Amino acid sequence: MAKRTIAPARAVSGAVEVPGDKSISHRYALLGALAQGRSEIRGYSAAADCQSTLDCLGRLGVGIDRRAGNHDGCVVIHGVGLDGLRPSRRALDAGNSGTTMRLLAGILAGQSFDSTLTGDASLRRRPMRRVIEPLARMGARIGSRDDNFAPLEIHGSVLRAIQYTLPVASAQVKSAVLLAALFAAGETLVEEPVRTRDHTELALAQFGAAVRCEGRKVSVTGPAPLKPCQLAVPGDLSSAVFFLAAAFVLPDSDIIVRNVGLNPTRTAVLDVLAAWGAPVRLLSVREESGELVGDVATRYAPLVGGELSGQVIAQLIDELPMLAALGPYTERGVEIRDAAELRIKESDRIAVIAANLRRMGARVEERPDGLRIEGRSAGRLRGAKLDPADDHRMAMAFAIAALGAEGPSVIRDAGCVAISNPNFFTVLERIAAP
Ligand code: S3P
Repeated sequence: MAKRTIAPARAVSGAVEVPGDKSISHRYALLGALAQGRSEIRGYSAAADCQSTLDCLGRLGVGIDRRAGNHDGCVVIHGVGLDGLRPSRRALDAGNSGTTMRLLAGILAGQSFDSTLTGDASLRRRPMRRVIEPLARMGARIGSRDDNFAPLEIHGSVLRAIQYTLPVASAQVKSAVLLAALFAAGETLVEEPVRTRDHTELALAQFGAAVRCEGRKVSVTGPAPLKPCQLAVPGDLSSAVFFLAAAFVLPDSDIIVRNVGLNPTRTAVLDVLAAWGAPVRLLSVREESGELVGDVATRYAPLVGGELSGQVIAQLIDELPMLAALGPYTERGVEIRDAAELRIKESDRIAVIAANLRRMGARVEERPDGLRIEGRSAGRLRGAKLDPADDHRMAMAFAIAALGAEGPSVIRDAGCVAISNPNFFTVLERIAAP
């Protein structure tokens, strides 16, 4: 898809479904591949990132059957067991997906063969030393460009259990070590500075691994054979947030997103919205495959806005772009601090948010670790030519902000939304009233 025009709208209303949770989909596919036998994953994400994980597993000799479907796609993984992966003749391509690259690095480190992991231009610019370093402590040998960047040359090694304190709050790094721990004899213990999403821990338990969690510490005892599972992936709250946010841009809006993951390590964004005055309601909350799931409903309310900083940043990291783009619609504006990690995501999100909001006429101060965006008093946004820098969350955040602007906006290379939600614009068109 090339560019996309977003016309101003009056309201959004109706019921929405979003693709399966991206983080959970990756983990179920990877663990299903390492289990011995057939695992069935319902609701596997339609995101291009999650397809990258399946493609890599296919190249490693794992049989995968995928039934098409946007929201209820079912994937069957014919798991090969802990020592059943086979070397790929070609480099494994993680595409745009940091989760694919970092989690797979943990698994490949413990193999009896060598692998090359690469990705698109954006992923090849993202830091990998954060996984190379703990995996090297486990005995892995990983070559990289400038000791930090993909392509990663992973020489399969015999791994040992370690105790590791994460220097950055990153669920991807934690997960890489926990997956490598499946291949190391003894107990590997990881301590994180801030609690990050715990989908790997919950998924390991579903697949029967010896995993223990206590506060910010997680341990896995290996070698841990895994049993195949039947699992359901809830909808992705990080994708749902864009549709929920539209309700705070357009008065008269009323929206419900059904069947969304509500894991407490992911719901900080709902707490923030509620604290800013959003009437967010959780309905039909239940547990599926060890994860909390429910419907999230909200309607228009004028948001207050406020400051986001400190420990909560790690738990909001994927939602910060949308919260920032809501800034001009809030009373007090939005200030984000301690979020330098945003600069090393799929794009430099701090710079890209600042540039696009300014194109729409917002008053923005860019800082090394965040932004300050002025609220409603700085005036109404105006339609503009927007460049998401090939970053799916930028394209979606600005599509939502553009709904409330004066005049149409044009989003360049809007097809990048397929990285997490190929249906984003179709759904948006359906729920938006002109
Ligand atoms: C993810 C962890 C986060 C998040 C990413 C998905 C995961 O990255 O931003 O979209 O699935 O573990 P970091 O671990 O780099 O914070």
